[in-house]
Amino acid sequence: MEVLIFPDSSSLAKKSADLVESQITKYADSVIGLATGSTPLGLYRELIERHKSHGLSFKKVKTFNLDEYVGIPDDHPQSYRTFMDDHFFNQIDIEKSNTKVPDGMAGNPLEVGPAYEKSIEEAGGIDLQVLGVGTDGHIGFNEPTSSLGSITRVKTLTQQTIEDNSRFFEPDEFQPKLAITMGIKTILDARRILILANGENKAQAVRDMVEGPLSAFCPASALQLHQRTTVLIDEPAASKLTLKGYYKFVGEMQDDLLRKHRPSDWISR
Ligand code: F6R
Repeated sequence: MEVLIFPDSSSLAKKSADLVESQITKYADSVIGLATGSTPLGLYRELIERHKSHGLSFKKVKTFNLDEYVGIPDDHPQSYRTFMDDHFFNQIDIEKSNTKVPDGMAGNPLEVGPAYEKSIEEAGGIDLQVLGVGTDGHIGFNEPTSSLGSITRVKTLTQQTIEDNSRFFEPDEFQPKLAITMGIKTILDARRILILANGENKAQAVRDMVEGPLSAFCPASALQLHQRTTVLIDEPAASKLTLKGYYKFVGEMQDDLLRKHRPSDWISR
């Protein structure tokens, strides 16, 4: 894992946007996996800004979102489809038909996973997957003890995730306890992964992901198996890392190396 530590969330957002921009500049028809939640908002703002200021185009890009709640229609204010439309898709030039979010209202939610896997495969697989991490180490909605070999399917949320997300729902509103999520294997199949985390409340999950044992108890630790995962975190999220100084040193060395060689070697396809 490559671990990049930033002084603040804005430099983290800029660097993650640089990496996404490089990918879609090299391959205009890139397939990008996307996350919702508060973490990637800075990245989306930055990409929108680049679309508006210098015409960064998403015209041929295809996207697959990680997850969606079960039982919430697309046009519900808290659906992940609404989130993506409001915070990203409606402000760039992407074709809406090229943006996929699992169908949380399917008559049989158990059929959604295999169909979603098939459409990722038909698109040629995910070139670059953007992830956030939950305070309990989940990625997508793969909660602790999710199979490390899982594919897209229905999952039951933990009490902690329900509580973490309750801030988005009115106290008397229906809050879903089930979600459809890409599996851990689906995520690991992406050619490149960027996982972002901000804030002290993510410090333990970040430590378990990067330095903890490979364990279904921290689903994000499965990323240790992936060849090209970059962890982008701010100082508070990095505060529990034992080898923090080493990651900074590696970052400086890599910057040096990448300046001398072709950064395009890092782009996936
Ligand atoms: C959402 C998702 C989740 C979030 C995680 C962190 O699509 O995949 O795994 O990334 O719950 O959420 P925030 O960013 O709100 O802390």
